[in-house]
Amino acid sequence: MSGVTTVRDFPDRSWAEDGPTRGAEALIEAGEVLRFPYLAFALIESELRFRDPRWADGKAKNISLRWPGGDMRGAAGDSRDLAALKAMITRYAEQSEAFALRLFPHYRGHLRRGNTSFRPLDVAGREASWRKDDTRLHVDAFPSNPMHGTRLLRVFCNVNPAGRPREWRVGEPFEAHAKRYLPAIKRALPGSAWLLEHAGITKRRRTEYDHLMLQLHDRAKADAAFQKTSPQARVDFAPGTTWVVFSDQVLHAAMGGQHMMEQTFYLDAAHQQRPESSPRGTLERLLGRELR
Ligand code: SIN
Ligand code: FE
Repeated sequence: MSGVTTVRDFPDRSWAEDGPTRGAEALIEAGEVLRFPYLAFALIESELRFRDPRWADGKAKNISLRWPGGDMRGAAGDSRDLAALKAMITRYAEQSEAFALRLFPHYRGHLRRGNTSFRPLDVAGREASWRKDDTRLHVDAFPSNPMHGTRLLRVFCNVNPAGRPREWRVGEPFEAHAKRYLPAIKRALPGSAWLLEHAGITKRRRTEYDHLMLQLHDRAKADAAFQKTSPQARVDFAPGTTWVVFSDQVLHAAMGGQHMMEQTFYLDAAHQQRPESSPRGTLERLLGRELR
């Protein structure tokens, strides 16, 4: 096995049932990036104008739909424009959901739709503290949103009109990454999870699993030597390319690009084909005990 995340290409040209790829659970659960260079998200004529940062409200870093309601956040415009923008993002949600269920039939009935986002802002222009800086390699973990081991499955599609790729770096496999930092990570202070939850800083209790994942996220981003010298590869996702990852497992960084669609799905690790291959399973194996 090589020291860097595998990016595997597939020939699909359709989001729907008629595409060729299905039963790819083992690959995604092994931490691969599944790339579909011929799977474009088609915009209709009247949607082409949305690929412009002016539709973002200037506060949020992207325009997103929240489910189940489908209310839109982060967009600015009059009500007719906003309805058309919402229809475009909704179509992405539906197509990527049908696609994910075809790729991963084992997850059927268990994949929950999270936010759908449209990202018309340039990666390069994003101001960010080191912790929010996604140009640094990281696994996804969020201070306010403890996942309790629920997986983050993401379907991205580059919709750039000017030929610009989404430029990523991918890093070492999750197990190597966990081994790198696990010995240095201390337990959270007693009572801190309770305090964070009751102060409203976290949406729910930050468990030991969440503490470890956030520590991995933070330590990687704060470690300049790791960012520079760890095993890694540049990956370009050209316009018209879709890619699918477990972003809580794959070390990734967004180095450049503009105009992208993204759909998040949640999956309880218990419903994976091999739950033991999840970040939680890997951490428990390395620690030799169960995580709460
Ligand atoms: C990220 O998930 O870290 C950023 C992905 C992107 O904007 O391409
Ligand atoms: Fe990320």
